[in-house]
Amino acid sequence: MLKIVGGSGSDALATRVALELGLKATRLEIRRFPDGEKYLRVLEDVKGEDIVAIQSIHHAPDDLLFEYLLLVDTLKDLGAKKVVSFIPYFAYARQDERFHSGEALSFKTVCKLVESVGTDEVYTIDTHQHRVLKSSDVFSIPSHNLSAMPLLADYISKTGGLKKPLVIGPDAEAEQWAKIAAERMGADYDVFEKKRLGDENVEVRPRKVSTKDRDVLIVDDIISTGGTIVEALKTLFSQGAKRIEVACTHPILVSGALSKIYEAGAQNVIGTDTVPSPISYVSVAPLITEHVRKAGLT
Ligand code: R5P
Repeated sequence: MLKIVGGSGSDALATRVALELGLKATRLEIRRFPDGEKYLRVLEDVKGEDIVAIQSIHHAPDDLLFEYLLLVDTLKDLGAKKVVSFIPYFAYARQDERFHSGEALSFKTVCKLVESVGTDEVYTIDTHQHRVLKSSDVFSIPSHNLSAMPLLADYISKTGGLKKPLVIGPDAEAEQWAKIAAERMGADYDVFEKKRLGDENVEVRPRKVSTKDRDVLIVDDIISTGGTIVEALKTLFSQGAKRIEVACTHPILVSGALSKIYEAGAQNVIGTDTVPSPISYVSVAPLITEHVRKAGLT
């Protein structure tokens, strides 16, 4: 029988996925030894079972990555037949290139680690693979990068705060997400060009779009410090945009990002539960469930 197991980066999400499939999430015991080492115990028999392991690697990424490695290695060692991993937020994906000589290619290293513990197949969601275009460029096991943009677009359409919105990606790479969201909403889309001035500073300029008197939805994969979105909001308002809402798949939200975005004039900011946050209004559980079913695991 299929078992759904969630690490502490995605325990609530795993519970939702299990419930949607008419199951109960498999119980784990996760704690620390007094010296800070992690302890993990699988509390149910998994021998001969197919397992869906769900673990986002978000805040404290090294800790959650290590927990993921312990989890999958243990499941395989206990005799699980197949382990299919869903890693909704895949940390380190932004370091997919050596921008300065001598830098670690962290994305590739993490992919190697994920494979090394015997994961049979891996699913990610809106992974920031800009220079690495396909999951198969970095994984040698079957891999799939899903998108939560249709779910976000449906939520925005349902809440109905925007009239005939224009969908904007805050940089050239966000075109892929703007396109999916716009198509789902039957809307137009465009992207801005972005110049990064440092870890927390970016300058955003419009490409070709006129936003005068338009309602706008800004979409991006990640909101981390909020710098990218704040610059996009400033630019859009200076061009005469009326009402602006913001949606992202992964609301990492560090350095007061949410306050900065509201202060810059966004009416609404929404994200998914790939990263649990105060704006995780949209669950990716239906997306995961759909692909668990499609993969014939149920
Ligand atoms: C980068 O290209 C990503 O798509 C996001 O735009 C970026 O990670 C957001 O980071 P921040 O919120 O710190 O500007």
